[in-house]
Amino acid sequence: MSSAYELAIEHQAVSSTDQKNQLHPRLLKSPVVLKATGVTKSYRKGKVEVPVLNGVDIEVLEGEFQAIVGASGSGKSTFLHLLATLDKPDDGEIYFEDNRIDNLPAASRDILRNRYIGMIFQFYHLLPELTALENVLMPVMIHHGFMSYMLQRRKFRKRAKELLDLVGLSHRLKHRPREMSGGEMQRVAIARSLMANPRLLLADEPTGNLDRAAGEEIMEIIHELNSAYDVTIVMVTHDLSIAAQADRTVRLAEGRVESVSFQS
Ligand SMILES: Nc1ncnc2c1ncn2[C@@H]1O[C@H](COP(=O)(O)OP(=O)(O)OP(=O)(O)O)[C@@H](O)[C@H]1O
Ligand SMILES: [Mg+2]
Repeated sequence: MSSAYELAIEHQAVSSTDQKNQLHPRLLKSPVVLKATGVTKSYRKGKVEVPVLNGVDIEVLEGEFQAIVGASGSGKSTFLHLLATLDKPDDGEIYFEDNRIDNLPAASRDILRNRYIGMIFQFYHLLPELTALENVLMPVMIHHGFMSYMLQRRKFRKRAKELLDLVGLSHRLKHRPREMSGGEMQRVAIARSLMANPRLLLADEPTGNLDRAAGEEIMEIIHELNSAYDVTIVMVTHDLSIAAQADRTVRLAEGRVESVSFQS
């Protein structure tokens, strides 16, 4: 029996109450904001079914910063997409603030993502023809429709500028993505994800494409969102030094949670 296997057994026996006791004391009274139980997902490749997740359980407390790590191909992005309701699990359940969300109809999932869950990705996903300010405004334009947006435009633009200021980009409002560095593009993506004032931010390797200095700046912003604005963070990362900054780190392997560790 390998030591990694023993470790997995040991950690699977750790109940959510035991895990809670190992978290930072500031989280002691925090309710569960996101919960996944027994989540499975396979992809079909021709006639072959490729299992990716074989029963993943996690719990995220309000105000927590949780990291998800694991080898390439271990299903981290797949899992984050399920948490964001961008895709549906084959089996298992996902709850956001006590409401089951994995089986919601598409329109309700869109509302959930638009109002409550922010997302940032490794490759930013900005629209190339729009300026930084317009990219940040995009979610409210989509959500409100043209007429309603135009009527409230001043309010929205004010908020978008405040968010770009928060991420240190007041001087780049009119720049298009090709005129910005990777770190700046990621900061625009963060500002865009905050437009709806989400309680939960899901991040898939947000520093994965950046050099160390730019990555550290992004992490500073994420820490500030977590500590000063109380945004709950779930972040997939390859970078163990970033994972070490999280309150709790969940490691995926073989489609399951292999181990859970806590900030010492
Ligand atoms: N749409 C898809 N169709 C078929 N297979 C897929 C699809 N998306 C992902 N996979 C497979 O699922 C597995 C998990 O992929 P996923 O992208 O979740 O891994 P990951 O842990 O995020 O990896 P990385 O660290 O490289 O980003 C991989 O083997 C991948 O090839
Ligand atoms: Mg991935």
